[in-house]
Amino acid sequence: MQHLLHTQDLSRADAIALLDSAAGFARQKQHTGSAKTDLLGGKKIINLFFEDSTRTKISFETAAKNLGAEVLSFSARGSSVSKGESLKDTAQTLQAMGADAMVIRHWASGAAHKLAHSCWVNCAVLNAGDGTHEHPTQALLDAYTIRQRLRLAASPGQGLDGVRVVIVGDILHSRVARSNMWLLSTLGASVTFVAPATLLPFGVAQMPARVSHSLDEALAEKPDVVMLLRVQHERMRAGFFPSIPEYVASWGLTAERFAALPDSTLIMHPGPVNRGVEICSAAVDAAQTSVLEQVENGVFVRMAALAMLLKTGLQEVS
Ligand code: CP
Repeated sequence: MQHLLHTQDLSRADAIALLDSAAGFARQKQHTGSAKTDLLGGKKIINLFFEDSTRTKISFETAAKNLGAEVLSFSARGSSVSKGESLKDTAQTLQAMGADAMVIRHWASGAAHKLAHSCWVNCAVLNAGDGTHEHPTQALLDAYTIRQRLRLAASPGQGLDGVRVVIVGDILHSRVARSNMWLLSTLGASVTFVAPATLLPFGVAQMPARVSHSLDEALAEKPDVVMLLRVQHERMRAGFFPSIPEYVASWGLTAERFAALPDSTLIMHPGPVNRGVEICSAAVDAAQTSVLEQVENGVFVRMAALAMLLKTGLQEVS
């Protein structure tokens, strides 16, 4: 059984193979107008979403359909979860209808790992975001977008060696920051976390990332990429900063900070975006910002992940 649960142990070779495979699907779409194939014809993929999602859920559905697979989508809202049904019973119920892969998003860190290693189900498991732990396909689509935008993907096998990435905001609650930190460092990029001390995770000194508390100092170093993160109010049980205006003044990509950035700086955001909080509206809509390109690339990356797990086999990452 093979799974994609996190990027922490994803090898450089597997990560690059996945990005190259995604690039193949993108090229097919560019040349033929369609990314559709029949690679996974006859396979059934079940999306299990216990937490809200727009991008990841629709992207996995589109990716599976592009590969010719049958897709069933489950949302906890409106399901028997409200009657007390457990993750185990929900997963086994859906497995009984036949599944070659399950894509799971869950509010609990470790839920994807539990599903993959509990013997509850007998299929590949892909983590679509678990609590504050990891969101591996988001990091892969971000790495793919950086490779494309910085024109590093001209030759297959290209990593992100020497690329300098600043990740700003609510690192503490961000599975995107964690997955990006592991993957970007595996691919040779350097990562700087910029956040107030209250929004940094325990043990950050042991992680492969520099830490700065000043966004202005980090931007003055002219990084190649600036990735903004959403302030995750829904995961906060306490006041991590005095007020939104004070957060914006210190940590937001304001109109003034955006205007001072070189045009060549790639601005990224995984979405959903809080316009006017972590990023100003002008920056969201700017040509040097890749928010929608990240969404588009996500379909190719998820096609590559599903195809590798179900067709050719990716080394287990769990
Ligand atoms: N980036 C991301 O995971 O977005 P969704 O929550 O909309 O899936």
